[in-house]
Amino acid sequence: MVAKFQALKGTRDIMSPDSERQRALVDAFAEQARLAGYGHIMSPIFEDLGVFLRVGGSTDVVTKEMYDFEDKDGKRIALRPELTASVVRAFVQHNPPSLPWKVWYEGPQFRHEKPQAGRYRQFSQVGIEVLGSDDPAVDIEVITLGWRFYQSLGMSQVSLLLNSLGDETCRPAYFAALEEYLRDNAANLSEKSVETLEKNPLRVLDSKRGQDQEIVAGAPIMVDYLTEETGEHFAAVREGLDSLGISYEISPRLVRGLDYYTRTTFEFASTALENAQNAVGGGGRYDGLAESLGGKPTPGIGFALGVDRILLACDAEGVFEHAGAVPDVFIVDDVGGGEATVLADQLRSHGIAADRGFDGRSMKAQMKVANRSNAPWAIIIGETEQADGTVTLRDMHGDTGQTLISRDDLPNELSQRLGETSR
Ligand code: HAM
Repeated sequence: MVAKFQALKGTRDIMSPDSERQRALVDAFAEQARLAGYGHIMSPIFEDLGVFLRVGGSTDVVTKEMYDFEDKDGKRIALRPELTASVVRAFVQHNPPSLPWKVWYEGPQFRHEKPQAGRYRQFSQVGIEVLGSDDPAVDIEVITLGWRFYQSLGMSQVSLLLNSLGDETCRPAYFAALEEYLRDNAANLSEKSVETLEKNPLRVLDSKRGQDQEIVAGAPIMVDYLTEETGEHFAAVREGLDSLGISYEISPRLVRGLDYYTRTTFEFASTALENAQNAVGGGGRYDGLAESLGGKPTPGIGFALGVDRILLACDAEGVFEHAGAVPDVFIVDDVGGGEATVLADQLRSHGIAADRGFDGRSMKAQMKVANRSNAPWAIIIGETEQADGTVTLRDMHGDTGQTLISRDDLPNELSQRLGETSR
């Protein structure tokens, strides 16, 4: 017997109606982005490995989880684990004339993680990035867009965690204090965290290991070390969110899983999901990223939201349901001879979604498929109808029964009835 293949571990086939639901989610996000003046960017799914090495040299996402390989020209390539680095690479490459440059994106990302519910090796994100302004009003706009998007899906159990990670003016003092504290407590840290401490002490705060929790809880926090300017920036962001009625929790140990963050950082957590996978989105400022990718110093901020997890959170909240692709009408052809082919084509060209039976099946079998399709209307072509130039239109969900309609009147008649039911 020939062995069958299965989708690889951590990957999934997303099929109807889930796939239509996912598209509807992306459409809802695109609408929020359009309302706020963001253009769409579609960057390649794979990039020069260096693009990602520059942005996350001490993070698991880049050092351990990346799908990197040599292509047939011997070039080192990586499937993108995230899109911020790609967008900033594109910004540096194309040098857009008008700033701030505001873009939105959607698409698959790849991380070789341990698969579990809500954690996949291929997953989808929607996101935005803004380059060229450090106005706190931009931070507020970005966070608000994410917040309104969740609301637009009907989600109400999302909380916003906010922090400032400071910048190069406040970090040296903070890093020194943090390093000293962690070194003093190294004997009680996990082996892994002692290793991390050597590379980037901030990352230790991200440790999920039980042994580290107590030490991490007592560590100095960045917000206590902000310089006046950075502190004012953070205060302006908080005031802006307050004025819009967007509630947040200051989370002083929120460091996020990528290296490039400065100043405002945030995460959206769903209280409807299990703790370990409850981050439905996150982002922040990365004011040094453009420069580290060879561009002019340019401030930037953005976020990415995990589509797969948002849909799990919607399931948990019982919101944003989707019926999938339902045809307007199902054609049941009891005579054969190409009638259904012509009729389906005619209706589709009038913008009516028409599905039909195939394989010369019995009327009963075709009616079963029509029922299963959930189409609100069925068109039946029998011998009498064919002879008279009519069809029978059957109401599949309502109580108007069935009517004989002339073939010529059908598109208009059907459009009108569909308009009435959707009203
Ligand atoms: P991130 O926190 O690594 O940030 O990912 C953002 C979101 O993607 C997470 O909150 C989560 O919902 C989803 N996600 C991450 N990994 C997985 C996975 N393995 N399976 C399912 N969902 C996942 C970034 O990617 C940054 N680029 C965000 C950003 C944009 N920062 C500034 N601009």
